[in-house]
Parts: sequence; structure tokens; C-alpha cells
Amino acid sequence: MNAVKYFLVVLVYVGMYLNLFGQSQTPEDCFAYTVDRNEVTFHCLDSAKIKLKLASSSVIKIWYAPDGKFQRSNESFAVINEELEEISNIQVSESASAYEIFTGPLRIRVNRKPFQLQIFDKWQKLLFGGYQDQGFQYSGTEVKAVNLLRDDEHFFGLGEKSGSLDRRGQSYKMWNSDKPCYGINEDPLYKSIPFFMSSYNYGIFFDNTYLTEFDFGASSNDYYSFSAPDGEMIFYFIFGKDYKEIINGYTQLTGKPIMPPKWALGFSQSRGMLTNEALSREIATGYRERQIPCDIIYQDIGWVEGLQNFEWWKERYQNPKQMLSDLADDGFKVVVSQDPVISQSTIQQWKEADSLGYFTTDVRTHKTYDMPWPWGGNCGVVDFTNPEVADWWGQYQQKPLDDGVKGFWTDMGEPAWSNEESTDRLYMKHHLGMHDEIHNVYGLTWDKVVTEQFEKRNPNQRVFQMTRAAYAGLQRYTFGWSGDAGNGSNVLEGWQQFENQIPVALSAGMGLIPFWATDISGYCGDIEDYDAMAELYVRWLQFGVFNPISRAHHEGNNAVEPWLFGDKAEKASKKAIELKYQLFPYLYTYAREAYDTGLPIMRAMILEYPNDPEALKAEHQFMFGQELLVAPVTKQRAKVKQVYLPAGEWINFFTGESYEGGQWIGYPVTLDDIPVFVKSGSIIPMMPVMQYIHQVQDYPITFRVYGPDDPSSFTLYEDDGVTNDYKKNIFSSTLVTNTLGNEGQKIVTVERKHEAREATPRSIIIELTIKSSPKRVSLDGQKLKLTNSKKIVESEVDQEFWSYDKNSGKLHIKFSDSDGKRKIEIQ
Ligand code: NOJ
Repeated sequence: MNAVKYFLVVLVYVGMYLNLFGQSQTPEDCFAYTVDRNEVTFHCLDSAKIKLKLASSSVIKIWYAPDGKFQRSNESFAVINEELEEISNIQVSESASAYEIFTGPLRIRVNRKPFQLQIFDKWQKLLFGGYQDQGFQYSGTEVKAVNLLRDDEHFFGLGEKSGSLDRRGQSYKMWNSDKPCYGINEDPLYKSIPFFMSSYNYGIFFDNTYLTEFDFGASSNDYYSFSAPDGEMIFYFIFGKDYKEIINGYTQLTGKPIMPPKWALGFSQSRGMLTNEALSREIATGYRERQIPCDIIYQDIGWVEGLQNFEWWKERYQNPKQMLSDLADDGFKVVVSQDPVISQSTIQQWKEADSLGYFTTDVRTHKTYDMPWPWGGNCGVVDFTNPEVADWWGQYQQKPLDDGVKGFWTDMGEPAWSNEESTDRLYMKHHLGMHDEIHNVYGLTWDKVVTEQFEKRNPNQRVFQMTRAAYAGLQRYTFGWSGDAGNGSNVLEGWQQFENQIPVALSAGMGLIPFWATDISGYCGDIEDYDAMAELYVRWLQFGVFNPISRAHHEGNNAVEPWLFGDKAEKASKKAIELKYQLFPYLYTYAREAYDTGLPIMRAMILEYPNDPEALKAEHQFMFGQELLVAPVTKQRAKVKQVYLPAGEWINFFTGESYEGGQWIGYPVTLDDIPVFVKSGSIIPMMPVMQYIHQVQDYPITFRVYGPDDPSSFTLYEDDGVTNDYKKNIFSSTLVTNTLGNEGQKIVTVERKHEAREATPRSIIIELTIKSSPKRVSLDGQKLKLTNSKKIVESEVDQEFWSYDKNSGKLHIKFSDSDGKRKIEIQ
């Protein structure tokens, strides 16, 4: 390997950016096929081969090898399972014009002259197909798939990307990039998730780690394409009756998202310069004194004495262990940042890594690659693709964990540079390949080490890791946040960047980052006028509390604690954060669903309403789980928020007012308001406000039953919240149903379905809104006593009764939870 070769690589990349590629070739006519268990290979005259592997009857791996050799430089970084169903001996029917395979849900047709691949559903609707005879192309090292595009076809996905959720008419690149203060159409961003879905019932995962490009009809109305400057043309076609099913197929291929510890779903506070003991203690006290719930305090990278030796900066932390223990006593968890590099000025550790060969090298000098870094001077880039590095890093990162730190914030794993136009990094060599191949998976390989080492050294504990740069498959190791949003030139003008975070979040969710966070307040821009910033702060926070991971964070020493923006903002923020805590049982149930199915918790409207064309347009609102619709206010000085309510009845979460769906409504708002609607026929589990998750262990759990005349149910999920026992299916679930009985009585049941709760007794409260007081309420066939509303909240666990409040129309029924079934009848 010499520098000339890498000069050529650089040239190819420059060519990719400038679109300089010339003529390409396509496979010639297909003359034969061979079958090997669940694989069929088609042979073309020019020695090209196309292999189809039936991972299942709905998921097909498609591999185009222009030279007929099915070799890849590295195993997939993303796909961990491609035997999703037992399929043996595929039957291929052959005719003069085509080969055909019927999988059950699909018909795959390979036209022989010219070669063309098409996939139909079982009703003969063409879902996916190569564009004429141009479906597969190669030129030099570049590979490209060019596919039929229909006038009414829409695309979603590519993970955490800016811009409209509907990707039609746009083009995108995958190249993990550090883009501080990124714009609303900025591309690429930090993560590469080459997975998208078409409105024609399929998804594509393009398993190529190079700088891939996706053109969804930006160049043509007849075809769309995806391509890579190098590597293999391997992609997975995933059929699904709707987007949820497609996401599920992608999850089976790339792995389930890990569940966070429960506390990770509380509120958290951060700041660039939140890097000392005194400030950490001060902020913690600030939260508790004001009774604003908070679970986590982050320490940014300045917590380390030397980048990245995992030693506390002594002048900044007088007694870190004591600090961690005091904060823990007060319910706070501390998460610290790590960068994937070692500064040359951290001499001892740098020398150690250098001598062990743990850094990436420079192909020009064969020495450690000299990486400029925004702080700490030039660095060595730790080569996480080298398996020997894992334990070495694991030992270092264990030091703060042993002190009492609870998790990591893995930052700058692009690896960052903030100078994306420079191609010098392409001279970097990793254990598993050159940088052009490894760049996009570098962060993922780091995340894997962080999690596996955590799990090895802290057995059966749930990892907390939140990351910026990653590749498809990240969900197996880490949660994600969207990096440095906000307006750097004028922080007060960050409204658009804020609004952009909603589709960014929703798209991230569809790329399997269910546990996601925005930097509340936006990362960029100095805050000089806190009063002027208050409105944007509150609105950002009101969106942020519906992010499964909620974190207020800002650059430098810009403090973004909720009480700094004036009384009104503090009140509104407190109310929003309290709501997050009240909804915790609901959120946690959906966290488990994310683990089981890969479905995000914040859901683009199209996930729940795939056939509603208006839902496609409603990009600045989302479903929070299946039952709640959240439409954060994103416009400055807004008096009204336009909200789209899909067909059906919707109920205002706060006032109980009901609305007819199938229309856009103008919803009046003040600074305090977050428009939240409940789908009629839902049951929402809630807990009392606490200052941190599980401050009180056996709190009463309230099930709010909406639309009491519609049958409804909810299965509440609970587990210990800190161990990995959930992976062994150790949890408890409780089914709550609401139906109408034969005599017109309402019947609510609460029944333990899966295992006993390992906890002391607790109360259950059922809340319904009805027009007049019931005549009789019974529990398990026995008449229940009537009491006043106050007693419902304040009474002992074993006291059971009901109350009705004429003014609000609220009926409460309180009883003790049991591991059997309890039945309430309301007449
Ligand atoms: C970049 C991250 O995006 C930001 O959140 C962090 O504060 C800085 N690095 C400093 O570590």
C-alpha cells in the first residue's frame, strides 16, 4: 500500500462529492441459476452474479457481485441475524423470459434478457424493481442500485437526519459528521443509518459503510438510487404490511434496542462547563430546593484531568467519591463524558497506547495518526476495531464507575474534527480497514466496547450510554442524542433549529434510536439575555420532556437550569417536567415495547396512521406511544398551534374536552401549554410526581380511563429497572380492561398477567370522567364505600372506596393491588 493508492481514494471521495463519475456497467443477460438451501444465485453472461438469500419469506438479502465473487472485506457491522425463518430448498420456476420464486407473501421475478430484478406482493402489485436494465451498476469501485420510482411513492428513514420526514425529491449522504449549530437541511449529520422505507410496503437496508448516497428522485421522476464509492452492493429488502412491520423486520436483522435503567427516563441537567464538584452540588441543591424533579447530572469532558485517562481533574473535584455518594443520597445519578482519543499531552497513557499499537496509524508514515482535536491538543485515535483494545479501555473506564459514576456520554465519535471538508483522515488505517470503510462505523465499534466492557465488569447491571456518532445497529449498545443544534450566531434565533428537532427525532426513531434526546435550549449560542431566551427555552423543554431521555444542555458556561429564565418560565418548565414523571409508568411500558419490537416511543404520525395522507404532512407533532398525541409549540409568540387529529375522537389530556378527529384544529396556547390529546378508548397509567424516579417505591398507580363507553385495555409493564433480567423475561405485567356490561354497567378489571410483583403492597386508582355520580360501585362483587376525593389520595393502602367530584366529573375508585384479578362494576 502506498501513498499513491490513498491519493486515488481521496480522489474518489472528492469525485463523490462533486458527482464526477462517468459511465457505468450493468449485468448482462442472465443464463443460469444455482440454489443452495435458502440462497439462489443468478449467473450473468459478463460473469456478474446476483445472489438472493431468503432470510425469511419477507426479508431478502440481495447481493450483486459484478465480478461474480461474493467476498466482503468485513462482516456486517449492523446485521447480526439473517436466518429469520427456516427456509430450505427454494423452488425456482424457469421460463424462457424469466425465473420466478414465490415466497408466500412475495413473488420475485428475475428477467433474463435483459437482467432485471422485480419484487411483487402476492396480489401482483409491483413493490420494488430495478429501473429497466439499469438496476445494478458498477463503475471502477463504485456500486449503485437504480430502482423504479412511482409518482405516488414516498420515502422515510435514514435515521437521524434533518429536513422533511418525507425524503422524496431529496438526496442524502452518509458520512458521520460533526456539524456544530447545524442547519435545518444540513446533511450529513453525526449518524449513518442506511435504512429507509417506501410507501410501497418495503424497506431497504443498504449494508455498506462507505460514504453512501441516496437519491430519492432528486435527479429523476422515474427512478431513485443508492450507491457507494466502494465496498459491496449488499442490501436487504424488507417487506411489511405497514411501516411498523418493516421496522420490525429491520430490528430482527440488526438487533433489539437495549432498555435503559429506569432513572435514565427522568430529567437531566448538563452544561459544557459543568465540570466541577461545587457546581454539581449547587445544581443538585437548586433542583431539590425548588422541587423540580431531576435524576441525572452530567459532567462534560472537562471532568478528566488528561484526555482520556478517566482521572478526575483534581482542582475541580476535591472529593469526587464523596460528591457522588452525597448526590446519590439525594437521588442523583452522575453520567460522565468520554472522547475516543488520547491527547499527546496525556503522556503516559499516550505512550502506552502507542507502544501497544492501539491507535489508528497514518499510511504515509506508518506511525500513530496525528489527529487534531478541539481540546487537549493533538491526539491519537483509539482503534476500537482492534479487539485487544477492548479490555484496555474497559479497565480505564471502570475507574469512574468504581467511584460511583452511573454511565457514559460517548461524544465526538465521528471521530470529530469539525472540519468535514478535509480529507486528510482518509490516510488513517484501522485494524479492520482504511478509514473510508471504517469512518461511519468507528463510533459504533466504540459504543460496542463501552457497553460490553461495562457489562463484563458490572454483571447484570444495565448500561447507560448516550452517543452522538453511530451506525446502524447502535441500538444494541447505546442511546442517542442529536448533538449541537441551536443558532450559534444568535441564540435567540434558534426557533427553526428547534422545530427541526421534531422530524430529526421522529426519523431517528424509525432508524432504531428509540431512546433519544435533544439538547434542551439548543447547544449553540451564548445566552446573554435570559428573559429574551425564556420562551424558546420553555418551548424546547416542553418538547424535550417527551423525549424518552430529557436533557437540558448548552455550550460553554451557558447555564440552562430551568429557574434561570424567570418565574413564568420556571413554573412552565416545572409543570412540564412533572408531567414527564407522572407519565413514567406509561413511558416505561413503551420502553419495553421498544425492546420487544424496535418501535420508537415518539412516533411519526405515519407509523400509527400510515394510510392517512394528512398524517404525512403533520411533521411537527407525533404520537407518544399509541395513545397520546403530542404537538409541541414551535413558533415564537404562538397563540394557537395547528394540530392534526386523525379520524376518531380525541380528548384533551388536561381539560377532558373532546374533539372530533379527521381534521386540523387551531388549539389556543399560553406559555404553559403543551397540546396533548388522548385517543378515545385509551387507558393511561400514571404515577404521582416524585423528585426522582422511584423516590417512593410503592406509589399508588393511577389508570386514567378515557372514553368510558369504548372498550379499551392497557398492559402495564414493570421490572426492577436496573438489572438485565428483563432480557430473561423477568418482569410483571398488569392488564387493565374497560368494557360495558350487559346491564349497561361499566366494568373495569385489573389483572396480573405475568409474574408477581416483587414489591410491597400498593394502591391502584381508577380514574374515569363521567357525567353524573354512579348509583353504586362494587369491587369483586361487594358494594364499595363512598368517600371524599381527599381520602382517595391520603388513605392507607388497604382502604378501598370511591369518590365522585361533581365539578370535574371525575370518578375515582381506590383499592389495593393484588397478584390476582380485581373487578370493578359501576352502575
Ligand atoms: C461536543 C458535544 O456535542 C457537546 O454536547 C459537548 O458539550 C462538547 N462536545 C464538549 O464535550
